Amino acid sequence: MTAPLVTRVSKADGAAIAEAVRVLEAGGLVAFPTETVYGLGADATNGQAVARLYEAKGRPAFNPLIAHVLDLTAARLLGRFSADAARLAEALWPGPLTLVLPRTAACPVADLATAGLDSIAVRVPSHAVARAILEAFAKPVVAPSANRSGHVSPTTAAHVLADLGGRIELIVDGGATPVGVESTIVACLDEPVMLRPGGVAREAVERALAKPLARARTETTKADHAPLAPGMLVSHYAPRTPLRLDASGVDDGEALLAFGPKLADRHERAVRVLNLSQRGDLIEAAANLFSHLRALDGAGAKTIAVMPIPRHGLGEAINDRLTRAAAPR
Ligand code: TXA
Ligand code: MG
Repeated sequence: MTAPLVTRVSKADGAAIAEAVRVLEAGGLVAFPTETVYGLGADATNGQAVARLYEAKGRPAFNPLIAHVLDLTAARLLGRFSADAARLAEALWPGPLTLVLPRTAACPVADLATAGLDSIAVRVPSHAVARAILEAFAKPVVAPSANRSGHVSPTTAAHVLADLGGRIELIVDGGATPVGVESTIVACLDEPVMLRPGGVAREAVERALAKPLARARTETTKADHAPLAPGMLVSHYAPRTPLRLDASGVDDGEALLAFGPKLADRHERAVRVLNLSQRGDLIEAAANLFSHLRALDGAGAKTIAVMPIPRHGLGEAINDRLTRAAAPR
């Protein structure tokens, strides 16, 4: 567990922006205003910083995060734009609209931030403070709403401090956020679908598209359709190779996903061994989780044996994700 921090609160001036960039570059956490709600920002390309972000929020699961960038050019490095997606971006960015797009091959965002998915949520905010940070940092910033998990989204720096004081390095105070609800999320994976209503009205999205949005599955009542809620809708990443959890030893033909300094019995039999964290650090383990699973999935093993992972701190989210990945499909 990380030691408690002193959370600095700085009025949003040039010095605060420069400090925000220093904190992000060092892998730290900065809350800042966007036009919707305050976001809790981390360097999207730094898996350990992203792991710390989940820990600070106390999220019991790794929901995929929104990558914030300065403009459409930067967004195109992360996601592939269909013609519909480009229309939405041109009409409604900068602003409270998030697009879920297929990830580009060269996308530098950490696997943990997208929860191992092949899609990525991208947003170009319009708030001057958010834009100043993105421009000076010049890399994508992942930012969920800056509240503890299960609490409401914060619209003032005081809300952020009440929830996250002692857990993050810096809060940039830019006053109350003008929109006050989160961004509208539209997935452009095939036909555009609204995943979450928010700061941009459905009518504005449909006007930009010059057609009605496809009906989301939540809007139908068909029992054979899984509910389409943000974070659940694009199904969770799961390896093709079956997982065997809480493994104390390795069987022939298995790959081993290890944790900690002492490997499971008969580890020398494993087709391949990858350690989430040799020193038993849960933040490091979270940062490695999806990339190690993918690598072991490609090792040609009959099963991936997973050593027991402690359940405290980020261990809860790691175990949540492993349990889902191990569930029969
Ligand atoms: O207004 C906002 O969007 C704020 C500000 C800070 O930008 N951010 C925000 O983030 O609301 P968050 O993490 O609280 O909500 C992001 C939502 C989650 O429900 C998540 O499941 C969904 O976006 N999401 C992210 N990536 C996704 C993906 N690849 N596919 C589907 N849903 C995704
Ligand atoms: Mg939220």
